[in-house]
Amino acid sequence: REAIIIDTDPGQDDAVALLLAFASTDRLDLRAITTVAGNVPVAQTTINALRIRDLGGADGVPVHAGAAGPLIFPLETAEFVCGPDGLAGTDLPEPRGAATPGHAVEAIIAICRAAPDDGITLCPLGPLTNLALAFRLAPDILPKVRRIVLMGGAIGLGNMTPAAEFNVHVDPHAAAIVLGCGRPIVMFGLGVTLQAIVGHEQVARIGALGTETGRAIHGMLTRPRPGGLGTAGHPMHDPCVIAFLIWPELFAGRDCFVEIETGAGPLRGRTTIDWNGRLKQPANAHVIGSVEAHALFERMIERLATLP
Ligand code: BDR
Ligand code: CA
Repeated sequence: REAIIIDTDPGQDDAVALLLAFASTDRLDLRAITTVAGNVPVAQTTINALRIRDLGGADGVPVHAGAAGPLIFPLETAEFVCGPDGLAGTDLPEPRGAATPGHAVEAIIAICRAAPDDGITLCPLGPLTNLALAFRLAPDILPKVRRIVLMGGAIGLGNMTPAAEFNVHVDPHAAAIVLGCGRPIVMFGLGVTLQAIVGHEQVARIGALGTETGRAIHGMLTRPRPGGLGTAGHPMHDPCVIAFLIWPELFAGRDCFVEIETGAGPLRGRTTIDWNGRLKQPANAHVIGSVEAHALFERMIERLATLP
């Protein structure tokens, strides 16, 4: 089993990613959920992580609240896509428990320090602030990191701005630190995640599972997304990260040099991905370019069906 930490800003697609991880304990050893400001402020992403933990019956997994904003820029959130509480489309109750004491960054450091070399996989599904802080505060944990499998960036157009994908736009300085950390990185940008849009028939089947999780996911995937990119359905950006850990054979990519634009201008958060190797720079990420989407959702539904 691969030991992982999920760093997240739920968010509907983060929620589905968490649920997929809860349904995959045969393959994944989820050591902690750490939260960050992103889709909504961190107080709310923490509440949402706790609500999803209750929903999925993952009581034993600690949730640690993390960074309240990016390293340099003021926080920008995405209620215009996710709704005021970040989980529009659900009516999940308030969480049963509270977050575990200890800042997310401290938790990441402690879990990594206790692990053997190459012992922990980090799965960031939001702005990369917590990871960047952990790497700066405790560079000794880097050898403990087996790999970082992240959602962020875009080969082509962005979704937050024409240039940038949301997670990297919000905290480009953190993204630059993570991309430069020297550990293996697998990057899921919009080029692949916009291929991962669940079809209507599959969404209906999730709703018909007859479970609380099925009902909640159906609600999230059928609600209107006024601020979205106008895609025909709901892109499952963040679940791709978890799915890759379980079914890497469904994805294909290339080792690439990736550079992050940290300036405050219109290119802020742009990820320049040298897909064709024109710049002759050493690769710093394995960038995923395609997914077998139909098979992905068939397998996801099968797993999600096992949850309460
Ligand atoms: C990313 O931004 C967030 O809104 C989603 O949860 C995903 O992590 C997509 O750009
Ligand atoms: Ca997210």
